[in-house]
Amino acid sequence: MNFERKIIITGGAGFIGSHVVRRFVNLFPNYKIINLDALTYAGNLENLTDIEASANYFFEKVDITDLEAVREAFKKHDVDSVIHLAAESHVDRSILNPLAFIQTNIVGTVNLLQAAKESWIEITPNHRFYHVSTDEVYGSLGDDGFFIETTPYDPKSPYSASKASSDHIVRAYGHTFKLPVVLSNCSNNYGPNQFPEKLIPLFISNIVNNKALPVYGRGSNVRDWLYVEDHAKAIDEIFHNGVLQETYNIGGENEWSNIDLIKSLCKIMDSKLNHSVGSSEKLISYVTDRAGHDFRYAIDCTKIKKELGWKPDTDFESGLEKTIDWYLSNQEWVNNILSGAYEHYYEEQYGNR
Ligand code: NAD
Ligand code: TYD
Repeated sequence: MNFERKIIITGGAGFIGSHVVRRFVNLFPNYKIINLDALTYAGNLENLTDIEASANYFFEKVDITDLEAVREAFKKHDVDSVIHLAAESHVDRSILNPLAFIQTNIVGTVNLLQAAKESWIEITPNHRFYHVSTDEVYGSLGDDGFFIETTPYDPKSPYSASKASSDHIVRAYGHTFKLPVVLSNCSNNYGPNQFPEKLIPLFISNIVNNKALPVYGRGSNVRDWLYVEDHAKAIDEIFHNGVLQETYNIGGENEWSNIDLIKSLCKIMDSKLNHSVGSSEKLISYVTDRAGHDFRYAIDCTKIKKELGWKPDTDFESGLEKTIDWYLSNQEWVNNILSGAYEHYYEEQYGNR
């Protein structure tokens, strides 16, 4: 088949990547979508069983730290675009093991840029290298203020520092080699298929299993939450209509302190599980704070709203409910993860707090 575009989506077996792959495979049958993923602990092809038989979907098990393997994939599929999501993505793991973050997030990104630079000799309008990043690169806010696209970078964790490095390198390839790059920095995502080490799916799973809910510090840290499909929609918009060399901030305009969010989650869980009111909240356990814990993230997403007409479709109440329903009806997906290596991680992360 003669595809109009041939797009590598890295990290397509992960949380956000799987929603982006599904959206592109279903909405653009004339695009060849190549999901390039190493299938680390966070990658799970079960996330994509509904689209895996589609004629425009291809999977390549490739580690982006392996430059030769990345080059091969570019050649094999005659790739003209990249949407780069593959990363080590969990702050707590970056505190336990920073080196993996340097390898995948920095070296892996350079390898993709280098393979694109080598194979895109004459740049056409179809060529595009889209780097998906996080608001955590801007550092930590106090009670007031918002991150805008020109906020100076001030990353504080090994995770955010590795993502900040990758953003700088992407911009450097854009500037120096005229690679057609575009970037976005998004706030915290939630929704189906998120690995249950992150706050919302971890707490849903712990409530189901009647386990303690480990709230770091006093639970006063603030995050802005966006439903994952709204992020996938923004990525689609930026990929197609974003201006080259530009950066777009993406956010939900939906700030919550951790403890308020957790208490709301507990209430919905009590009603879904037919537990007496207040029983999930009793599982809350205040534990030692995360080292270097960023206090607050908040995004000003005026630019993407004004210039690309994007806005989130899902309000937090219905998004949270959809997310909880998905986890409750996909217990097998969760149980497949909550064993072996995950148990070891859980013990290391929470055992001595
Ligand atoms: P995730 O951890 O759920 O998935 C990461 C995926 O990348 C997995 O499928 C994994 O197998 C793959 N991967 C990891 N190392 C790899 C390697 N060396 N080679 C090839 N594949 C590899 O992550 P996520 O939460 O879906 O995040 C995706 C991207 O979005 C990341 O770049 C992250 O920084 C960014 N982001 C995430 C959030 C969020 O709230 N989750 C918010 C803003 C930005
Ligand atoms: P997380 O989902 O890890 O995302 P990020 O650190 O990238 O924002 O955590 C969200 C917030 O929840 C963050 O302030 C840390 C806090 N948190 C807890 O209090 N307990 C936990 O067990 C986890 C995983 C997170």
